[in-house]
Amino acid sequence: MFKLDGKIAAVTGGGSGIGRAVAKVFAKQGATVHIIDLSAENAQQVLGEIEAAAGKGFTHACDVSNQQQVNEIFQKIGKIDILVNNAGISHIGNVENTTEEDFEKVFRVNVKGVYNSLHAVVPIMKANGGGVIVNLSSIAALVGLSDRFAYSMSKGAVHAMSLSVARDYLHANIRSNTISPARVHTPFVDGFIAKNYAGKEQEMFEKLSKSQPIGRMGNVEEIANLILFLSSDEASFITGNDYSIDGGFVKLNT
Ligand SMILES: NC(=O)c1ccc[n+]([C@@H]2O[C@H](COP(=O)([O-])OP(=O)(O)OC[C@H]3O[C@@H](n4cnc5c(N)ncnc54)[C@H](O)[C@@H]3O)[C@@H](O)[C@H]2O)c1
Repeated sequence: MFKLDGKIAAVTGGGSGIGRAVAKVFAKQGATVHIIDLSAENAQQVLGEIEAAAGKGFTHACDVSNQQQVNEIFQKIGKIDILVNNAGISHIGNVENTTEEDFEKVFRVNVKGVYNSLHAVVPIMKANGGGVIVNLSSIAALVGLSDRFAYSMSKGAVHAMSLSVARDYLHANIRSNTISPARVHTPFVDGFIAKNYAGKEQEMFEKLSKSQPIGRMGNVEEIANLILFLSSDEASFITGNDYSIDGGFVKLNT
């Protein structure tokens, strides 16, 4: 089960965290993986790890918010069976202290970046008889998280775009779903703790761990395994859905 032999997959933000784990498990399951990341160095490192385990892949340095770059890369790749829209950035702030510049930055990467990939890949999938898309949203799109004004906005938009694509391309054999993780321990989390809570890193790490009723953050492999399932033929009846993967965050926090 969950074999991806012969499949061609693209993972945006595949150079770190969740994307890195997805790229690695996809390659392990037999896919050829295209790692698309702002950081050519990180993408190359992940490809090195894949090749060391006898997997196959390619790297593409790309800013997903740049439509021309995204179009060129996907045209070069040519055939794509699986797209994982994972590249994303975080932001802390409420509506009052979120600046226009920050709002636009989060929008450009987390919303326009997803649109750019969908815009480039859907026609390719249609021409090839179908495909599977998994978009990274967040529990921030489902509950009112404090101080996540712009981030929540961006992840709500990911839900809506994913549903729209699922509806419009049902009969083109394209499945589109989102997953909504709670806190997952990645460089993304370490980075924003360091940036926003300097001097109180350990305290914040524990607080964020305990905000999942299960008592800890998720790990990247747990998230990658759900993405693998949704991308595999075993999930062929699943489209237009969202899956929380959250240690009980949405339904068990009382
Ligand atoms: N870590 C969490 O707790 C968590 C929870 C819910 C959702 N998510 C979502 O999961 C996704 C991955 O998060 P992560 O924690 O693995 O992050 P991460 O920071 O570890 O990795 C993100 C990757 O995206 C790349 N990237 C950022 N901007 C880019 C751009 N403009 N173009 C191309 N690549 C770009 C980065 O270089 C990096 O390699 C994000 O969309 C995030 O919002 C994360």
